[in-house]
Amino acid sequence: MAAGAMALPDLSKANNPAPLPEQNDSEQYWRDIRAQFPLKRELVYLNNGTLGPSPYTVLRTVEQHMLYVEESAFHGSGEQELCTALARFVHCRESEITLTHNVTEGINIVCWGLDLKAGDEVIITDNEHAGSASPWLNRARLSGIKLVVVKLGRTAEEMIGNIRNEVTRKTKVLSIPHIPCTNGQILPIKEICRFARERNIFTLIDGAHPPGMLPVNIEQLDCDAYASCGHKWLLGPKGTGFLYVNEKSRDHVQAYYGGAGVDAGWDLLSAPPLLNGYASDGHRFYYGSQNMSLYKGLISAIQFQEAIGKERIEQRIKSLAKYLQEQLLLLGPDMDMLTPEESASRGAQIAFRLRNIDLQHFNNYCRERKIVTRFVPENNICCLRVSCHIYNSFEEIDQFLLMLDQYVHARS
Ligand SMILES: Cc1ncc(COP(=O)(O)O)c(C=O)c1O
Repeated sequence: MAAGAMALPDLSKANNPAPLPEQNDSEQYWRDIRAQFPLKRELVYLNNGTLGPSPYTVLRTVEQHMLYVEESAFHGSGEQELCTALARFVHCRESEITLTHNVTEGINIVCWGLDLKAGDEVIITDNEHAGSASPWLNRARLSGIKLVVVKLGRTAEEMIGNIRNEVTRKTKVLSIPHIPCTNGQILPIKEICRFARERNIFTLIDGAHPPGMLPVNIEQLDCDAYASCGHKWLLGPKGTGFLYVNEKSRDHVQAYYGGAGVDAGWDLLSAPPLLNGYASDGHRFYYGSQNMSLYKGLISAIQFQEAIGKERIEQRIKSLAKYLQEQLLLLGPDMDMLTPEESASRGAQIAFRLRNIDLQHFNNYCRERKIVTRFVPENNICCLRVSCHIYNSFEEIDQFLLMLDQYVHARS
């Protein structure tokens, strides 16, 4: 093998994955679910918040479709099928789905599409990811809009109060995460969107984390736009994403890129040449050739989760996170728990700081020992975030806790 070349994994299991186990609540069931993933057995992967590993069935679908495309020299179809699957999964209309490549692309489409003038105010939180902060920072730089940064509240009620305190007559947009990448807190998006709607404020929700972690019903959230991806909690192919734009809000988001699928017809022979308006669905915001094999893979990831059951997944991964949080809280006053204990606000990620412990160093220490977590340096938060998904177990949480305990004791 050439120097630096990576050994490719054995795809034979992907070609012949074990059938999904019959649903039950035993630990064995979840071990069988773990066996559906190529994720290395010795790896305790607690960083789904960054990237979700795909199960074999997704890999197989992508591989087979790629082969089909190359054998037939036919691009294949899949866009509509994916929009249908996504709309079913997050409860909205197919026509409200725009296919993207990641969350950031969705945020940018809306950020740049809104008609805002200098002095208009946009509220974001102090816990944004670069993908949701940077588009707005750039827009502020280039268009002179004013960014108002609101603090996360410790509870749902406090969060609503913090937003209420920052809204003025100039507030035009609320662009906030459903679950921030930092502490994993579930924000009360439905209540916040209702509050915003009463004041004619456009709501753009960064939904990087919830689909695949919680059952998401976008219709009930009643936001104007929701940007998400397939490569985190949905466990789909990397580089897949989607943007929801409420059909009632579509005309408030100007399409700035043209291309196949964006328009409602065009004519170069008329004088002057004409663009006959825009597509009447989510295709207004995306264009050109796409990778249908990845689309097929994302459909397969959605079907995989539907077969296990969204509620079952939510219940399992929230119970792993709750257990982890309870154990961490036993460390007493040195523990600065950043994820709320309130169950409505706690999802599948727990984040904390620990007095006198350098968590960046601890994060690296864990990685060297095959436990993968995420150090969060954003906005100087400097905490450790631990994510739990269906391929994780209580034993793995215990392994992490033991490693933390050993690390802390070695330094005291
Ligand atoms: C809350 C949040 N928003 C946005 C992003 C950016 O996602 P993407 O890489 O899909 O653009 C992330 C990625 O970690 C995130 O956690």
